[in-house]
Formats: sequence, structure tokens, C-alpha cells
Amino acid sequence: MTEGSLPAPYRSDLLLLAERDDWADARTVASAGAALLVRSSPQGDVLMSRGEPGEVLDLLDAEGRLRRRTGAERALWLSAPRDVTVPSWVLDTLGLVPFSQWDWMARERVDPAASRPAVGRTLPDGHVVRAIDTAAEADAVRDVLRRTNPRSTADPLADREDAWSGAYDGDELVGVFGARREQGRGEHGFSWHLHGLGVLETRRGAGLGGALTDHLTLAGFAAGADWVSLGLYAENDGARRLYRRAGFELHAAMSSYGPASATRPLR
Ligand SMILES: CC(C)(COP(=O)(O)OP(=O)(O)OC[C@H]1O[C@@H](n2cnc3c(N)ncnc32)[C@H](O)[C@@H]1OP(=O)(O)O)[C@@H](O)C(=O)NCCC(=O)NCCS
Repeated sequence: MTEGSLPAPYRSDLLLLAERDDWADARTVASAGAALLVRSSPQGDVLMSRGEPGEVLDLLDAEGRLRRRTGAERALWLSAPRDVTVPSWVLDTLGLVPFSQWDWMARERVDPAASRPAVGRTLPDGHVVRAIDTAAEADAVRDVLRRTNPRSTADPLADREDAWSGAYDGDELVGVFGARREQGRGEHGFSWHLHGLGVLETRRGAGLGGALTDHLTLAGFAAGADWVSLGLYAENDGARRLYRRAGFELHAAMSSYGPASATRPLR
């Protein structure tokens, strides 16, 4: 999907721009202030809506009626702005129940030379934050993620993983954060989506989470990313404070709906 084929109000929506390749074959319905994208996957349709709450509601209402009329299969996933109360009959028609509430935050490119260097932070004695050699340390990264952030679906050896940063106490890996490549501005631009932040419980409150966030964000800008984004569950106030301090701003406050059996985001 090119930027130009997104509905007009959404050509500058960083969340949709970042994921626009995923929506390349989507059916798009739009009104003046809202858009609904529907793409099919083998497990069912995935729906994403952005825009003014009242107009999103109208688009979802029309989609629900269309699906009832045509006897469409159950959907796999729906994400919509959090300030929209999706009617229960629409959710029933889609076969979905509320799954999670999440925020999508981003920090746009800054001149790396002008931003605060990670080395300016005082870390506990013997600790450093540096790039992880994921080929050599994938199992250690997975172990930290399993112990600190088991809801995360991030994996250092997945497709499109551009970089991982680690916090080390000597040789011991005590915190991790990874970056997946997504779309950016124009035809060749790219962005980084950070995921899988976790610091061992006994090491928290010493600045390691903040230092990991700074390190990976600056690595993204140094690599040429147009922006760096990340997502968090809405109830994670500690992570939100950390990301705000690191210069990230809220771009989308969303809710997701999935099958009653879902234990992880499906998209
Ligand atoms: C979120 C998480 C990564 C934060 O890691 P952390 O290493 O504790 O992060 P920091 O130390 O940089 O910041 C945490 C707090 O310690 C404070 N702090 C940082 N350095 C400090 C220091 N030297 N002395 C005292 N306090 C300090 C920070 O100001 C911050 O305070 P706040 O919670 O009041 O805002 C960690 O809690 C974690 O792994 N949580 C579980 C997984 C998770 O939620 N991941 C994020 C998913 S989106």
C-alpha cells in the first residue's frame, strides 16, 4: 500500500504508515474523519479502524450490517480507538470479545548529535548497555523475556528484527529491548518498532530500562529510521512514564478485540 492509497486523513497517521505493507491488500472504507481497513488472513478477517469516534462507530455499524447480510465468517481481530464503545451486536457478529487496551507511542527523528547520549546516564557500577549479538545470544534474550515480559511476542531471531540492546552486569544479561523494521516515509523510508522490553525484577529502578530505551532509539535514528515507535498495554503506567521521559508521544489509544480463546494478540 502506498501512502497515497491511504484515506486522506490517514496519510500522516504514523501507526497506519508504519504498518501499511500489512494492509496492502485491505478493503478500505472511509468517511471524512475515519477509516476502516479489512484484510483477510487464513484464520479470519483482521480489522483496524482509526479516526473520529462517531464516524468509526458508523463505519463499524455498516460493516456489522454488511457481514450479517452476507453471512460473513467470524473475524480474527479488531482494533479500534479506545474512546469508541463498539456495540455488543457488532462484536457478536464478528465473533469477538474485548482482549486488551493499548497505546502506540512514537518519537520522530532527531539529529542524533543533538539528543541525549545514553552514556550520559549513570548506571550502577559494572553495568553497561550495548548492542546484543542476537545470533550468539538468542537463548539468553529469550530467557530474560520469559522471566520479565512473558506477554511479549518479540523474538530476537524473527523476521525483520534489526537490532537488540542489552543491559549487562559484567557478562550477565539483565535487561533487553528489540527493534523490528517497519515502513517509514516515502518509498524507501523505514521506521523501527521497539518491543520486548524487560529488566530482571531484582535490577529494576536503577535506570536500566531507560538506558535501554535511549540506546535503541538512538541506534534507530543513527540507522536512518524516520521515527521509532512502541506499544504498551494501557495499564502499564510505569512503562508509560519511562517512555515519556525518553521523548515518546502518544499517537494512538486503542482497544483490541479477539476470539474468546485468544491468549496473545493475533494479527
Ligand atoms: C518497565 C521496566 C522495563 C522498567 O525497567 P527499569 O530498569 O526499572 O526502568 P528504570 O530504572 O529506567 O525506571 C524505573 C523507575 O526507576 C527510577 N529510577 C531510574 N534510575 C534510578 C536511580 N538511579 N535511582 C532511583 N530510581 C531510579 C525511574 O525514575 C523510574 O521511576 P518511576 O517508575 O517512578 O517512573 C521493568 O519494570 C520491567 O521489566 N517490567 C516488566 C516488563 C514490562 O512491563 N515491560 C514494558 C512493556 S511495554
